[in-house]
Amino acid sequence: MRRIELRGKFIVFEGLDFTGKSTQVTLLAERLTQVGYSVITTREPGGTPLGEAVRKVILSTKNVDLLPLSELLLFITCRAQLSVEVIAPALEEGKAVVSSRYRLSSLAYQGYGRGIDLGLIRRLNEAATGGRHPDLTFLIDLPAKVALARKRGKGDRIEREDIVFYQHVRQGYLKLAQDDPLIHRIDGTQSVQQIAQAVASYLDL
Ligand code: TYD
Repeated sequence: MRRIELRGKFIVFEGLDFTGKSTQVTLLAERLTQVGYSVITTREPGGTPLGEAVRKVILSTKNVDLLPLSELLLFITCRAQLSVEVIAPALEEGKAVVSSRYRLSSLAYQGYGRGIDLGLIRRLNEAATGGRHPDLTFLIDLPAKVALARKRGKGDRIEREDIVFYQHVRQGYLKLAQDDPLIHRIDGTQSVQQIAQAVASYLDL
């Protein structure tokens, strides 16, 4: 990825809740804009009108009866809409796309967290994204305990899960990142500015 043109490239931030992904999305987009790229940012679940509506269903604490499979299918629904309506057209126009979360979140949360078969999630991800993978993923890595200590209030439906769930999700992320050269792990215990600098220098910005 280093020294490579970022026009038409897709960069994703991943990690547990409370790792500061959305802040890093904003900071990277600002940096890219400063150096002359045309950039859009987006997030999952959400990023389209339908996706934002589904996000409310997924995160509502009222939906205690949502099955793991139903939850997965809702995330996949958001991803399919976002891929077709937002990501693909922007990349085709030569924009850089910076997103908070994408297909790896479903493997980590629904696969390693909820125990759904990884093969099924991979197939659904392929269908929802037309086979598109990010050009680069930054995994902001934090121990589950450190991430959860940043929680304020009771949190949304998923944030109410216990530490064991978050430990499984984190281990999942680390396993998925291990053999994938397109996933770059960053120590999430660093300050916001240090993380932003690590991202910028990895991209040679
Ligand atoms: P996110 O928007 O990152 O959280 P927030 O804006 O509240 O910080 O994601 C919402 C939640 O959805 C988060 O707990 C992670 C979860 N999630 C999954 O479980 N699977 C997925 O595929 C995605 C995209 C998110």
